[in-house]
Amino acid sequence: MAGWALLPLRAFLGGTFVFAGLQKLANPGFFDASNPTSIRSQLASAARVSPIHGLIAHLQHVAVPLGVAISLGELAIGAATLVGLWSRAAAVGGMLLSFSLFLTVSFHASPYYTGSDIVFVFAWTPLLVAGTGGVLSLDALSRDIARARAGAAPATTVPVSFEVVQKVCGAYDAGRCRAMRGAPCEPAPCPYLERGSATKPALPPGDIDRRTFTLQGVFAGALAGVALVGAALAAGVGRLAGNSSRSTGPVNGPSTLPPAAQSTTTATSATATTSGATPTTSKPVARPAGTKIGAASVVPVGGAATFQDPKSGDPAAVVQPEAGTFVAFDTVCPHQGCVVEYSTQVQRFVCPCHGSQFNGRTGAVLNGPAPTGLGRISVKKGPDGQLYVT
Ligand code: FES
Repeated sequence: MAGWALLPLRAFLGGTFVFAGLQKLANPGFFDASNPTSIRSQLASAARVSPIHGLIAHLQHVAVPLGVAISLGELAIGAATLVGLWSRAAAVGGMLLSFSLFLTVSFHASPYYTGSDIVFVFAWTPLLVAGTGGVLSLDALSRDIARARAGAAPATTVPVSFEVVQKVCGAYDAGRCRAMRGAPCEPAPCPYLERGSATKPALPPGDIDRRTFTLQGVFAGALAGVALVGAALAAGVGRLAGNSSRSTGPVNGPSTLPPAAQSTTTATSATATTSGATPTTSKPVARPAGTKIGAASVVPVGGAATFQDPKSGDPAAVVQPEAGTFVAFDTVCPHQGCVVEYSTQVQRFVCPCHGSQFNGRTGAVLNGPAPTGLGRISVKKGPDGQLYVT
């Protein structure tokens, strides 16, 4: 009964992992470092907020191979779960993968139960404990074939009510046989309890296990072949269709306002000099009071450049939606603290962790799950061509 009871959960977990693996492989943006939803962007965000940020910072150097490994791992775990092959090992893999996603992208979900990864971790537990229960399972089929080839009876468990067993095997009441009425009270060998044990020759220890494992290996090879064909098809179709997750396009590129250029000014005027050796005083130039963050020319029109907010220390970005207009935002996502990135294609900020999107001009949230928009930072361009956080 446990096997049948777990079938819906098994179908859901297996189907979800297969879908997640194929979806990643079919999405070129997942492997494109310039895409805000890429594995690199997700790792960069997680490196800031995850409790294992030190490890994740190193993994950014191998983002693409890691992305391929995660996709194929999800596909393998999902497929093995669906067909019930090495089901407990698949459950361990599913738990580990879900737990690592919990540590990287949903650790700061609040309340904690709103993050799906922790739920997935525990959803794998029944399959780890009970396996497939022999229901619709290649594990069970492998064992049955192995037993048949070894001349052993099938290992199938057939439920028989205790009443039936009593009728056939005898039941005793106060020392007197009552269920086998009329029959001698010497208990005959019970066809249920004694079956096979006295007649079958003992098999060499481990023989059936070895045969089962070999068959499981053959099934696993066939399943891996099917999964790889599916993966190749998904990758090919995704690239032919130009598919890109959430169609957010590339980010603004590496434009960054250098932190070294930042300086605080409280004066509201400065003196320009001529190019001659002797400075000559000329018209004072008004500067905004605040902290200089870098040259406005670094920010492309229709694009963005990143900087560090001198007040909060948070990562931030300044956007130039049209020539001469500058708006800046704290790029820490209000959902769970990942760092959002600007997409020039849709002119929005996109969160790599759970896909929230924000208006590139106002910072307002356009797609959740982020509950609020991005924090606004006041910036002004000075007459010296520099941008100031005021
Ligand atoms: S952290 Fe979840 S959407 Fe940004």
